[in-house]
Amino acid sequence: MTYIGAYAPPNVVTNQDLERMMDTSDEWITTRTGIKRRHVAGQDEFTSDLAFRAVEDLLARHGDDALAGVDMVIVATNTPDALFPATAALVQDRFKLDAGAFDLLAACPGWLYAIGVARGLVEAGQCRRVLTIGSEALTKIVDWQDRSTAVLFGDGAGAVIVEPVAEPYGIRSVIMGADGSGAGQLHKRAVGKNLPGGEPLAESLYMNGREVFKFAVRVMATATTEAIEKAGLTPADVNLFVPHQANLRIIEAARERLDLERERVVVTVDEYGNNSTASIPIALKHALDNGRVEEGDNLLLVSFGAGLTWASSVITWAPAA
Ligand code: ACO
Repeated sequence: MTYIGAYAPPNVVTNQDLERMMDTSDEWITTRTGIKRRHVAGQDEFTSDLAFRAVEDLLARHGDDALAGVDMVIVATNTPDALFPATAALVQDRFKLDAGAFDLLAACPGWLYAIGVARGLVEAGQCRRVLTIGSEALTKIVDWQDRSTAVLFGDGAGAVIVEPVAEPYGIRSVIMGADGSGAGQLHKRAVGKNLPGGEPLAESLYMNGREVFKFAVRVMATATTEAIEKAGLTPADVNLFVPHQANLRIIEAARERLDLERERVVVTVDEYGNNSTASIPIALKHALDNGRVEEGDNLLLVSFGAGLTWASSVITWAPAA
């Protein structure tokens, strides 16, 4: 993993703005979630537009040749512009890449799934460089009358290149898990009407917050432990913890279970809310920009979401080529 870029739309909606729109309060949102603001895409700005901006940021940071040799594009998203074509194909065309392109749907852990798949493609010799993107226009699928979900989400995108790096750098482990028996806890209708058990699929994003919370706290602990062990490390070897940014209380619970000091945890949920697949790459770029990642640092990433799904990874940060 080498080059990175990210983007969040400039339009910011604060908790105070939400107080004027629905029966909620800054106090409730802050104490329950840690969220203060979220960035909201424009009326005519969709997931592909946000992905383009993240890739443009990657190019601005790393130079015009940063996409040279990219032969696969994977966009992890829950909010594609269309069921088809894949948003990844729109990215391929926008940057005129000689590459395959597909979308990956695994809810919030989608981008971690994407780097797991990208690593497999690179290690198998199938691809040389894979452009992985997490991009979301989640504010377009929430019901703005439903205070239990509308306050939680924001829009944004992150783009990261996966390519071979010298030992001991690179992606050391990726864990990908799913438990579809929890499908009813978090869903949004596309083409079907019901889940297999007959439960109607929701028109807008539906979430059983309490159940997802319990699942998240449990799986953050087990998935991080697994990723650390698979990488041949211990929690003491983790330099920086970059968790999915959904809820500060969930992040805190995971931090305590891992016995990590606060200085070793990246928190951006206050500024962005939950960006789903984009949340970890945005948080990672934030950490890099603030000088919190050094060459050779071990980064621990973890995410959870609809499916239910989870994923985690340990990455030893490589110097940019
Ligand atoms: N403002 C004020 N009051 C509210 C709001 C709001 N925005 N939302 C809910 N409430 C009220 C409820 O109506 C309820 O009132 P009642 O007791 O009178 O019925 C009370 O607050 C408590 O509601 P709970 O849902 O029990 O609150 P909880 O402490 O569980 O927090 C939250 C809710 C923040 C959603 C929490 O459950 C959570 O973070 N869950 C995990 C969500 C998550 O991380 N999802 C990530 C996956 S997303 C993806 O994959 C797309």
